[in-house]
Amino acid sequence: MVAKMLPHSWISACVLVLLLSLHPRVHAFYLPGTFMHTYSPGEVISAKVNSLTSIETELPFSYYSLPYCKPLDGVKKSAENLGEILMGDQIDNSPYRFQVNVNESVFLCTTDPLTKEQAELLKRRARDLYQVNMVLDNLPVMRFTKQNVVIIQWTGFPVGYNSIGSNEDYIINHLKFRVLVHQYQA
Ligand SMILES: *[C@@H]1O[C@H](CO)[C@@H](O)[C@H](O)[C@H]1NC(C)=O
Repeated sequence: MVAKMLPHSWISACVLVLLLSLHPRVHAFYLPGTFMHTYSPGEVISAKVNSLTSIETELPFSYYSLPYCKPLDGVKKSAENLGEILMGDQIDNSPYRFQVNVNESVFLCTTDPLTKEQAELLKRRARDLYQVNMVLDNLPVMRFTKQNVVIIQWTGFPVGYNSIGSNEDYIINHLKFRVLVHQYQA
């Protein structure tokens, strides 16, 4: 059976938790060449996307090599500090944006129906264990999963997964973020 991956049958499956300190006490988290940024309530922060990586193949691909929603004003290289450049990453802007201390749902886009090639590519990347890597305020987006009583912490989240035995592929395209903020006491 061929997996159905038209947009209407895409499964929203990811609960992604983001650990972000908007005003961190622990400066050691920051990459070289970055600096602390103080944000005001309601200020807009955009997430960036890094290359898709896989522990299985070790060959990175750019985020937009997959048919993800693009920023309205176009895709732009967005490495902004020496750390990001030195890490050899391919950091681009993304349509994911946040407002400081605002809880909200943001609709990104409706993609055109996937072509057969795009659907195959998504399946291949998911099966090769590719993961999406995002960055917010110079910090990597983390995912926490609970296995029995243990909480496991991952960097990034999978492109998708396929359920064992049923030959169905799922693409993760609904994300839920939790942004932790360090309140600055003046
Ligand atoms: C946003 O939602 C979280 C979790 O439900 C809650 O703890 C927090 O107080 C909310 N923040 C605002 C500004 O509404």
